[in-house]
Amino acid sequence: MNIKINGLSVYLAGKKENRAIVFIHGFPFDHQMWDAQVEEFKKDQYCITYDIRGLGNSPESDGQYTMESFVDDLESIVDELNIIKPALCGLSMGGYISLRAIERMENKFSSLILCDTKSMADDDEGKIKRAAGVKLINNDGVEKFVEQFVPNLFASSFINEHKSEYEKALNRSKNNSATGVKGCLLAMAGRTDTTSYLSRISIPTLLICGKEDKLTPPDVMKSMAEKIKHSKFAVIEGAGHMTPIEASAIVNEKFSEFLRK
Ligand code: MLT
Repeated sequence: MNIKINGLSVYLAGKKENRAIVFIHGFPFDHQMWDAQVEEFKKDQYCITYDIRGLGNSPESDGQYTMESFVDDLESIVDELNIIKPALCGLSMGGYISLRAIERMENKFSSLILCDTKSMADDDEGKIKRAAGVKLINNDGVEKFVEQFVPNLFASSFINEHKSEYEKALNRSKNNSATGVKGCLLAMAGRTDTTSYLSRISIPTLLICGKEDKLTPPDVMKSMAEKIKHSKFAVIEGAGHMTPIEASAIVNEKFSEFLRK
């Protein structure tokens, strides 16, 4: 079922009485990034996915986003749906939103799953890359940006062996608006560093990373896991940055083991 909350496109699957899990997708994708997880977990969980403002079917609004406003959007969804202590699961930019949400309001969530993400803010080199992304979109459009950005997110073996799945994700990303994509780039460039909060996280946390993730490699996530008290860390062989798409069966197994406890 698709509903609107605070203008955002929110998707509900499974029974409301079941334990809730909120999934936040990565950039520049949309809620469909989690299709394989929703298909599996809607059997015994209440699965909530949504399109981050500016991406997918959510409105671009004024294009002026911050990580704080993304967390405000998440909070409005949790409050409006009246779900009590859902699990929170975010990939990459979805992980940045999740980590800041946990720092701001950990008591609203029961557990945390972080996929292919990091707690560090952008350094100067990262910020300059975001600016180059904005410039590329201004000069040549979103499609060009997506064509340069997205291939790096997948393991080359996945691109070669699962062409149609890869192209589906690629083409969906190209449909995003320039305002939305640029707004996300600037929100990521301006986000805070959540590393100092990691040692204070007290809810159970699962961290998952593709072995071939070039953006947030396994050593980065391992060092995050070492700082979080009740954490489990898994490296997924043969996957890049998009583990839930690239290795859905093994990712679902890891989620399921974690959520069962
Ligand atoms: C993502 O996968 O959400 C983004 O690539 C994260 C980023 O660019 O920092």
